[in-house]
Amino acid sequence: MSDTERDAGTQGFPTEAREPASETLGGVPDEHRGADGGSHAGLMYSSRQVQRARELLTRLYAVRRTARFYPIDHPATADGVRSLKAVIDRYHEEGVDVELAFFEGELLLGEQLLPEDSILFDQLIRELTGIGAGSLVFRKGLTLDELSRSVLVLAADSFEVEQNGGLKRMASEAGLSHVEVGAVRVYEQPPSDTAESAEAAREAYTGALELVREIDALIRRNKVVSSGRVKGVVRSLVDNVLSNRYAMLELAGLKSYDEYTFYHSANVAILGLALGSMVSNDYRFMSSLGTGALLHDIGKMTVGLEVLNKPGALTAEEWALVRQHPVRGAEQAAAIPGLDRSAIVIILEHHMRFDGSGYPSRTPRRLQHLSSRIVAIADAYDAMTSRRSYSAARVQDEAMGLLAQSAGTAVDPTLSRMFVSMLGVYPPRSVVRLSNGHTAIVVRPGGGDITRPVVRVIADADGNMLESRDVDLSEETALTIGRSLDPATLNIDVDEFL
Ligand SMILES: [Fe+2]
Repeated sequence: MSDTERDAGTQGFPTEAREPASETLGGVPDEHRGADGGSHAGLMYSSRQVQRARELLTRLYAVRRTARFYPIDHPATADGVRSLKAVIDRYHEEGVDVELAFFEGELLLGEQLLPEDSILFDQLIRELTGIGAGSLVFRKGLTLDELSRSVLVLAADSFEVEQNGGLKRMASEAGLSHVEVGAVRVYEQPPSDTAESAEAAREAYTGALELVREIDALIRRNKVVSSGRVKGVVRSLVDNVLSNRYAMLELAGLKSYDEYTFYHSANVAILGLALGSMVSNDYRFMSSLGTGALLHDIGKMTVGLEVLNKPGALTAEEWALVRQHPVRGAEQAAAIPGLDRSAIVIILEHHMRFDGSGYPSRTPRRLQHLSSRIVAIADAYDAMTSRRSYSAARVQDEAMGLLAQSAGTAVDPTLSRMFVSMLGVYPPRSVVRLSNGHTAIVVRPGGGDITRPVVRVIADADGNMLESRDVDLSEETALTIGRSLDPATLNIDVDEFL
């Protein structure tokens, strides 16, 4: 068994990872949607309004079909439009717009992910995203006539959309003012880096580490952790990722050679949640994702360290044992009463690959769940940038490059692009050499350009330490980053400067 097959951090990521995800995304009551989760754009709907979405989608699906075969003034089409309008009106009468979003095969109403409807309306989602409709909003004040015109736009196929200069242009030419058809939306959180938020982030991180240590000790004694304890820790992680994202991302670069599994679990939870928050801020989605990410490797806790940390190649038996850890972990998680069921799916699927390979093998070859695809990326990145007994750590930009290379094979291409744009090519804690020869540490992503973060300059071109100062490379355009450096070789303790 070669090292290539053993770890995401060895010999190129696009092979099986040695380190290296839902049906329903339920489990946490609605009252847990705290003020933190509500600080972003996006409507929250009542459970009745969420249930009604199925009727709306059924009617939307039907009228698009009808409009392809009959003119818009044909009785069948006109009936379809009226029927769709009746459901939309009910939302408007209740004082809310209808905000639908489609992302990666998943459907959202406002910020709420609709897992069952995502499966039921798979074809509708694919067709709409296929013509570039990543989101669809029906605003109050919509008339029957405007809805008819919007149905005509939405019923176009990708060829017609291209011929007519894109969906946006078609919508504008149809004079739509209460119907918005947009590209895929991506949430962006504002930066927050106060001392208080850094402290809260550190507490959440420490809480996650302690929990994983505790689970490890319990599993070794054949005992299970309480799901309430897990929910508390995950809630703190979710809240902090939503409100203190940069502080959390900086912590996600912490490593421990001796306690690799514990730090790795906490890092994967933060990186996974940060990526997940760009897709949806729905608390139930985030909570399931955080739980699955934090517990993704619990199946390894019963595999001996002599195997996990073996410097040389694994024997066939040892490799077989390692490959069992997703199934074993899912079983261990299933034994925790009250644990979020969808987190179990994440644990089971985290070593599956986007192209259908990976382990455990799946028949039929269905796509991993969205949350599993998110965790797989976070897992691979953290594993690649960690030093192990059988492999050196990769510098961050190299890991980012490998991740980009494996887009579409090992990992989901859209999510991998979002991950790179989230962390930047040079993620926080990267040690870099600037174009003027100075050495600096990346503090946080910059203003939009993934290659120009905010850096803390620590040494001049001759290696003399400087009084550290922060430079925003998105403003100081004369300076660029030359390359990433390995802090271990330079004998730099990154924490000293953060
Ligand atoms: Fe794993």
